[in-house]
Amino acid sequence: MSYTCCYHKLFLCWCLMFCFALPFPVKSDELHLLLNLKTALSKSTTHVLDSWGAANSVCSFYGITCNDGGFVKEIELSDQKLTGVLPLDSICQLPSLQKLSLGFNSLYGPISEDLNNCLKLEYLDLGNNLFDGSFPDISSLIQLKSLHLNNSGFSGVFPWKMLENMTNLTALSLGDNPLDRSLFPNQILKLKKLNWLYLANCSIEGKIPPAIGGLAELVNLELEYNHLSGEIPVEISNLRKLWQLELYNNNLTGKLPVGLRNLTKLENFDASTNNLEGDISEVGYLNNLVSLHLFKNRFSGEVPSQLGESESW
Ligand SMILES: *[C@@H]1O[C@H](CO)[C@@H](O)[C@H](O)[C@H]1NC(C)=O
Ligand SMILES: *[C@@H]1O[C@H](CO)[C@@H](O)[C@H](O)[C@H]1NC(C)=O
Ligand SMILES: *[C@@H]1O[C@H](CO)[C@@H](O)[C@H](O)[C@H]1NC(C)=O
Ligand SMILES: *[C@@H]1O[C@H](CO)[C@@H](O)[C@H](O)[C@H]1NC(C)=O
Ligand SMILES: *[C@@H]1O[C@H](CO)[C@@H](O)[C@H](O)[C@H]1NC(C)=O
Ligand SMILES: *[C@@H]1O[C@H](CO)[C@@H](O)[C@H](O)[C@H]1NC(C)=O
Repeated sequence: MSYTCCYHKLFLCWCLMFCFALPFPVKSDELHLLLNLKTALSKSTTHVLDSWGAANSVCSFYGITCNDGGFVKEIELSDQKLTGVLPLDSICQLPSLQKLSLGFNSLYGPISEDLNNCLKLEYLDLGNNLFDGSFPDISSLIQLKSLHLNNSGFSGVFPWKMLENMTNLTALSLGDNPLDRSLFPNQILKLKKLNWLYLANCSIEGKIPPAIGGLAELVNLELEYNHLSGEIPVEISNLRKLWQLELYNNNLTGKLPVGLRNLTKLENFDASTNNLEGDISEVGYLNNLVSLHLFKNRFSGEVPSQLGESESW
């Protein structure tokens, strides 16, 4: 009896000395981590990182925002002519990082699994860069609200399953990547907060699942330039907030769904270059259309008189 008691006390003592001393992040580490990032980007043709030096406080570095505790919360360096391989092993040691915004640069090389250590990330933009290789499974980043990886050179099998627990995602852009062919990823159908879905030109095949109608917050749905076949599901008429629906350059068949007229907020609709047929009277009720493209299909019948002349059908 007394033995266990003693061991407990010993352990407590040992803990007081070591356990609590080690894991707390120290602010001076953050300087070191950001200087690693600067070194990795040293070939960039920009002066934006000139302020990144030991003489300045990390929180005053260009593109860095800190939280109230003085820890790095945001890195906003999109569209800054940056080039280099991202040292995610360093970046993801920043314990409070919520936003990593590096879109529209010339970053290259692979994206490593180290990204999983950026546990607090809510906003991740790596889009419009020159990465290569497949994108890693980042299942641990369940706090993400925005994920932009579009037009960034990611190839191979995309780890669709990682999306299933990212239930707070509102924006997802994965289009314009040479991914391996896949069916429409069902994991996306669980992301009920999505308002922006860009899955164009990324080798999606098969049918558009009817459950897409459950993503009631969608404002933008872009599935163009894929290999989609089958009919446009009638459930798409449930997406009452849609402002833009892009389905062109697929192999969709059948008629435009009845109820399309219920998409009263729709301004841009493009279903051109498919195999659609039947009449197009349903679009005549879409009063807010600004742009309509239905050419290269097999439609028949009258053009609704409500349509203006700027539309091409
Ligand atoms: C592509 O990614 C950029 C950021 O890199 C984002 O601003 C843009 O909205 C994305 N495009 C689409 C159509 O989602
Ligand atoms: C999702 O957002 C809600 C509301 O902001 C928050 O309470 C919840 O913790 C978030 N979920 C995850 C997995 O981060
Ligand atoms: C999602 O969460 C469930 C429940 O915690 C877990 O079993 C599953 O492995 C998670 N999925 C992924 C891709 O991590
Ligand atoms: C489709 O994506 C590829 C990159 O995978 C890009 O090179 C091509 O320009 C895109 N096509 C269109 C029509 O945007
Ligand atoms: C498009 O679908 C039609 C009918 O299902 C099929 O006959 C045709 O081969 C498909 N075309 C392409 C390019 O996949
Ligand atoms: C269109 O909306 C009206 C009014 O909300 C509803 O009664 C009707 O069933 C809807 N039509 C379709 C095909 O969804």
